[in-house]
This record gives sequence, C-alpha cells and structure tokens, in this order.
Amino acid sequence: MNVYALLRPLIFRLSPETAHHGVITLLRLGGSSPLTRAMLRAWFKPQVQGPPVRVMGLSFCNPLGLAAGFDKDGLAWRGLACLGFGHLELGTVTPRPQPGNPTPRVFRLVEDQAIINRMGFPSRGADFLARQLRGKRPADVVIGVNIGKNRQTPLEEAAQDYLYLFQVFAPWCDYLAINVSSPNTPGLRQLQQRQMLEALLRPLAEARDDQAPHLGRRIPLVVKIAPDLDDEALDAALEAILGCGMDGVIVSNTTIRRDGLRSPLAGETGGLSGLPLNDLNTNMIRKVVKRTGGKLPVIASGGVMGPHQAQEKLDAGAVLVQLYSGLIYAGPGLVKRILEYGLRVT
Ligand code: FNR
Repeated sequence: MNVYALLRPLIFRLSPETAHHGVITLLRLGGSSPLTRAMLRAWFKPQVQGPPVRVMGLSFCNPLGLAAGFDKDGLAWRGLACLGFGHLELGTVTPRPQPGNPTPRVFRLVEDQAIINRMGFPSRGADFLARQLRGKRPADVVIGVNIGKNRQTPLEEAAQDYLYLFQVFAPWCDYLAINVSSPNTPGLRQLQQRQMLEALLRPLAEARDDQAPHLGRRIPLVVKIAPDLDDEALDAALEAILGCGMDGVIVSNTTIRRDGLRSPLAGETGGLSGLPLNDLNTNMIRKVVKRTGGKLPVIASGGVMGPHQAQEKLDAGAVLVQLYSGLIYAGPGLVKRILEYGLRVT
C-alpha cells in the first residue's frame, strides 16, 4: 500500500512551504533517537544496497542522493539518512543568516509534475548548519554541503564568501558543492563565466590542497552548473572547472526555461525542476561527459521522478544521481523504489 499516495491530496492542500516545514519537523523528530531511527529504517530503507560507487576519493553505498535545497539548515539530515540515500547534500548555506525572497516562493505545477521555486537562499547561516553536523555520524551516508554567497555580497567579493564557507565546513563534511547556478540570487549565474569562475575556483582549490594535511583528507570540490548554458558558455565553464582542478560537476540546477508546460502556475518567476527538466538535463549530462572525455565525474540532478530517469542519467555517463522534486510527488518511499529497481552504474 502506498501511504503517500493516500496522504498526498491532504499534503497538497497545504502551501508547499508549510508542507515542507512539516516534513522537515517529522524527519528531525524521526532522526532524533536510536529507536525512531530504527523505525524509519525499518519502514523506508531498501533491502538491497548497491551498486556501491567509489568516486572523488569517497565511497558511496549507492548512487542515489538527496539534492541541495531540501534540508538547507541541516535540521533533518539524521532522519533523511534513514531513508536509504547514499549521500545527502545539505544547504545551500550562506555565510550569514538571510531570509530569502518574500513568500509565496515555491509553486507546485501538478499537471506537469514540476516545481517552480524562487527561494533565494533562505539560510540560518554557516554557524547554525555547522552546529547541526557535530556529533556522531552514521557510517553509511556521505554528507555534502552546498555553499552560496549572501545576496548582499557583491559579485566581485563572492570568492571571500565561498572561502569562508570552505573553512567552516571542510572539517564537518565529505564534499563541498559550489553553487554558481541558482537563478534566484541576482547575478549569481554570472559566476559561471570563465574568468569569474576561475577567480572563484582557484583560491578554493588552493584551500582544499592546503587544508588536506591538517584535515587528513582532501575535501572534493564539485561545481553545480545551470542547465541553461549554451554550448559556448558550457565549454568555457568546463574549461575553468577542469583547469582549476575541480573534482566533479553537478549537472544541473533548475532551469529558467518554460517549454511545453500546462500548469496555470507556469508563469511564476524562478527555477523549474521536476519532470520537464529531465530531457534538458540528460542531454546536458551527455554533452559534459563528451566534452570532458569522461575525465570529470558527473553528478546528475534534474527530473528524476522514478527509476527509469535515474537509470537514464547513469546510462548518459553520470556516476551519481540526486533528486528533489520526485520526493514531493512520490514521497519518501521513492528512494527504496528506485534502489530496489536495481540501478546499474556503467
Ligand atoms: C532547489 N534546488 C536547489 N539547488 C541548490 O543548489 N541549492 C538550493 O538551495 C536549492 N533549493 C531548491 C529549493 C527547491 C524548493 C527546489 C525544488 C529545488 C535545486 C535542486 O537541488 C535540484 O538541482 C533541482 O530541483 C533539480 O532536481 P529535481 O528536483 O528535478 O530532482
């Protein structure tokens, strides 16, 4: 019996953000004691694991992860870790707390199985998230932190924000994702231009290498890019990413395109995710794999609503797959459904 299918009409009567806060509260509670964690695992964790993935010097117990934005402040990650994910990407976190854009700022496009969001990085700030990450960690989940600049920070000073976030989170996470692709922070996507990207990534790569002896490990750095880059802009961004020695790339963030949508909410400003992003995203994965000669590990994020899309991304050359909108439409059991289908990493 799919309990979520029964509950979904009730959940969808709440505003998307109210529903989300409710889910985060439940998962935080669920993750707060050994007993409730065991209950969550018994219910949601898949019987089968694997295939394990070794990439960027890390070991993932399976290729499926939670995309950034779901647990921005790290409130619920201990509960989320019980759902079967091989990795969780927390954040986007900004150095200082900030409120994000005015509400409403998240919209369900039910007819299209899509979401539009213009959250604008609401964040309780770096110190808050770092506090959530202290304490004993479950062994079987990789934790990534997705970092972004404060809205008030001018683009020319963006590198300082990212460097600060690197210093705060390197001791507390397994990898860092550099977000230069949210459409909801004015100007942020300009950081994908070659020179600006190099100016941002070089000092981060230096910090990664300098810190490695102190931390006893090298923190992989991955860059999350937009699906809206044209071929020329993509090539330039990839040259900067490879040239600066990044460890991977997340393809992709949400799109500002609005092709072929049926929902009356399609005109809302923001980034579109979910099913309509799937083909655009898979095509971009293919391009990135081709243009980098397979040298750069690709983490897929965009349009995974079930096992078939997840496998499609791996077949296109991705090594890991993340999801977000699929959870809203299919519920937390989706993780188990995808993993029990049996993903193959090629
Ligand atoms: C996101 N996404 C996102 N990405 C990111 O790098 N930082 C963020 O803070 C957020 N916030 C966010 C909020 C909401 C409400 C949504 C729906 C999405 C983008 C997300 O991580 C993912 O890349 C896209 O949603 C595409 O994947 P799905 O949703 O199609 O699986």
